[in-house]
Amino acid sequence: MPPLRPRVHFTPRANWINDPNGLVYAGGAYHLFCQFNPRGLDHGYMSWGHATSRDLLHWQEHDVALPWREGHDVFSGSAFVDWADTAGFARPGDPHPPVIAMYTGNAPDHQAQYLAVSRDAGTTWTFATPEPVLDEGKADFRDPKTFWHAPSGQWVSVVAHPHERQVGLYGSADLRTWAPLSTFGPAGVTEGIWEVPDLFPLRGPGGQERWVLKVDTFQGGPQGGCGAQYWVGDFDGVTFTPATPARWADWGRDFYAAITYADLPAEQDRTVWIGWLNNWSYATRLPTTPWRGMMTLPRELGLSADLILTQAPVRELEARRGAALAPDGDGLALPPGQAVDLTLTATGDFTLTLTSAAGEEAALFLQGGALHLRRPAPPEAPDFAGTHAAPLPDGAVLDGRLDLRVVLDTLSVEVFAAGGRLSFTHGLLPTQPVTRLGLSGAVQGEGWVLT
Ligand code: FRU
Repeated sequence: MPPLRPRVHFTPRANWINDPNGLVYAGGAYHLFCQFNPRGLDHGYMSWGHATSRDLLHWQEHDVALPWREGHDVFSGSAFVDWADTAGFARPGDPHPPVIAMYTGNAPDHQAQYLAVSRDAGTTWTFATPEPVLDEGKADFRDPKTFWHAPSGQWVSVVAHPHERQVGLYGSADLRTWAPLSTFGPAGVTEGIWEVPDLFPLRGPGGQERWVLKVDTFQGGPQGGCGAQYWVGDFDGVTFTPATPARWADWGRDFYAAITYADLPAEQDRTVWIGWLNNWSYATRLPTTPWRGMMTLPRELGLSADLILTQAPVRELEARRGAALAPDGDGLALPPGQAVDLTLTATGDFTLTLTSAAGEEAALFLQGGALHLRRPAPPEAPDFAGTHAAPLPDGAVLDGRLDLRVVLDTLSVEVFAAGGRLSFTHGLLPTQPVTRLGLSGAVQGEGWVLT
């Protein structure tokens, strides 16, 4: 494997990817569809690429699921199992219930929502409706996230009205005809157009169900460029009512277009999402080859008592912990090209330096009540460089201690702190693998190679 190819993050064998699409569990596999260019390294000929996994960490890539057709890009959307065949796509004798994708068809000056169907649990796909099922006659109207809402007995789809900085909520009994329910916004950060909404329930520590509305903003993100904001509140089948101000789902420079999985087995009792580990500010100039773009780790979501979203890498990651990292002076030696998982406890300011075999250095440090990530840039994308700060959430330091989880996987570092209430995700672009982790200051910890 090329030394800089990420080990536990999805990257395509070759070519461009952006948003995760249609995250659905079907036929015993986790499916990951994504915005994919079958023809090259740039954003174009947008199609749904496809990969499957049994553990959410090791992916097998398949043929394109929904290919670009003349004048019709297959933009972002979601997928879900139609257990009760409400849309009538099932055929007698089908061994599996239909899996349906609702995606945005992007044509010049027109975006609308269409359906595609799989009758073999997500393996192969056909375009199901030549006409859109949800069309407002607009140039920009996209990224439907669709789910079954049992209390109101209907399908609900949340769709971005990018320029209005609004999310439209729509309801349907059969996925084929849709009626508006309500709109949310403008609210929170409105500097950039809005894209890729999601709406999903989570239980807080008291067991009470709340709803999270997430929507991405193309500008005005926490580190400049794009970012993901969310509100926690209530959803009654018609209207989402926020109970919190807008907050950043991730304070790093590279977290966008996250959506949650549909149809996870009930016994898993968890909500998982994946985002695109990138920023539109420089995404088209990243010098990786023969692919461009990567996904974040899948993360399990929760809610803290103060209604802050919590995130942690899926539990499957811990099962991949192999050899413990060996001490090396005041740090840890890192086998080149491997992914590592660290747990740290800070009792004061500290610095974790990540040094590549070519001497390039990035650093994660705690200073002035904020976490920082400083990284250098390759010549192709000088604006990739910077020092990015994330304030610790209230109460992050308990009994003088701050807990941190750091996953480093060749071209990214994802940091989860304060019980996962702070998530801080960044790409890295060293020309050679990181081989040394230096630790200085008030910090202790251990680390493992991920297999
Ligand atoms: C977000 C986005 C979506 C759109 C897709 C196109 O990154 O711009 O709004 O559907 O990418 O690839």
